[in-house]
Amino acid sequence: MADVRHKFLLDENEMPTQWYNVIPDLPSPPPPPLHPGTLQPVGPEDLAPLFPQALILQEVTGERYVDVPGEVVDVYRMWRPSPLYRAHRLERALDTPARIYYKYEGVSPAGSHKPNTAVPQAFYNAAEGTRRLTTETGAGQWGTALAFASALFGLECEVWQVGASYDQKPYRRTMMEVFGATVHRSPSELTAAGRAILAENPDHPGSLGLAISEAVEVAAGDPTTRYALGSVLNHVLMHQTVIGEETLLQFAKAGEAPDVIVGCTGGGSNFAGLAFPFLREKLAGRMSPTIRAVEPASCPSFTRGVYAYDFGDTAGMTPLLKMHTLGHSFVPDPIHAGGLRYHGMSPLMSHVYELGLIEAIAVAQTECFRAAIQFARTEGIVPAPEPTHALAACIREALACKESGESKVILTALCGHGHLDLAAYDAYLSGQMVDEEVGEERFARSLAELPAVP
Ligand SMILES: Cc1ncc(COP(=O)(O)O)c(C=O)c1O
Repeated sequence: MADVRHKFLLDENEMPTQWYNVIPDLPSPPPPPLHPGTLQPVGPEDLAPLFPQALILQEVTGERYVDVPGEVVDVYRMWRPSPLYRAHRLERALDTPARIYYKYEGVSPAGSHKPNTAVPQAFYNAAEGTRRLTTETGAGQWGTALAFASALFGLECEVWQVGASYDQKPYRRTMMEVFGATVHRSPSELTAAGRAILAENPDHPGSLGLAISEAVEVAAGDPTTRYALGSVLNHVLMHQTVIGEETLLQFAKAGEAPDVIVGCTGGGSNFAGLAFPFLREKLAGRMSPTIRAVEPASCPSFTRGVYAYDFGDTAGMTPLLKMHTLGHSFVPDPIHAGGLRYHGMSPLMSHVYELGLIEAIAVAQTECFRAAIQFARTEGIVPAPEPTHALAACIREALACKESGESKVILTALCGHGHLDLAAYDAYLSGQMVDEEVGEERFARSLAELPAVP
């Protein structure tokens, strides 16, 4: 009886051993990153100071599938395949005819989807002789994942944690340190980018764009150090497709196909990881789900940003990326979903959105936490603040089904647990969480600083 089954599990040997690259299946490729000086497409030599060759090749590959190295498969098996759940109790609480499924990535050592790319990034760096990795972290999830992966492959790891998260989540820092990483509050005095910001505003809450500038600056200045990014880039999104490939197999076991897929987007990696294998099936005419990204109302790059070339970081050190952006100088309010406070969106997700293959909505954080509480009290999992956005959209859809009487199949990505985010729940439960309305003038100010690209 499919209706009473809660978990759809795969055996270890059913785990997919190839990542999926959606680009060859799209009607056109995404526009290339540009060198900010020459405005020409960046070449491998431009990226070599920051990334190992294997990842640069994956960034530009035209192959539809890329083999997961055996050493990475071996680590993935510590927690993968991850479970797909049917949310029977949430469905009953909502009194909806919809059938709700969630793919749960909180079973990983870091507590989120982030190790799916941290592990291969650490593996390829170690294989090419990197001594140390630097990175940024917003929520602390990515930093934890990279610290864990670095420990497995014998790399040093140095993390710039966005100031607001560093203050809100002291135990994330401890967890990174347990895995052997060094953690700095960003903006820091250790880099020119950090010092410049602190000189202007000593109380700056930090942002992902700024923490990226600091980590990139340190990596670019040391030939034994490279930089690792937890989202946004093509190879990161590709590593995450292990999520969607597993989910397709699990849906086959459930005898279902999704009508709607919703997921949260910061830089776009967890959602692309879930959705791109389904998009492949949709483009091939084998299923037809609506695919909807959910972003925070306070950092709405899809729904209120522009599609333009912009820097990936605040200080303007990265190549120019064609993406939905609020402007690289935009500093989002310090909301609790620290992993969604990024001014831009992955160029690949942005391109897919421009092609009309996905939709996007923005949701304010109190609705998200209301949804998360309802989810926790029925399904028993305390979600990370980021996927509360996915759950809010999922509940909206399930209630629309209640109105219309449709029994749609809704799939969502529960990309992490919130065990180290309880301060956010405390703020919600004690009535202190607020929704800040972001006025057009704030976007206009940062959009005025977009680099001029003809
Ligand atoms: C749990 C969690 N979900 C989502 C995100 C957002 O990133 P992405 O859109 O790349 O999945 C983050 C980023 O730190 C995160 O920690």
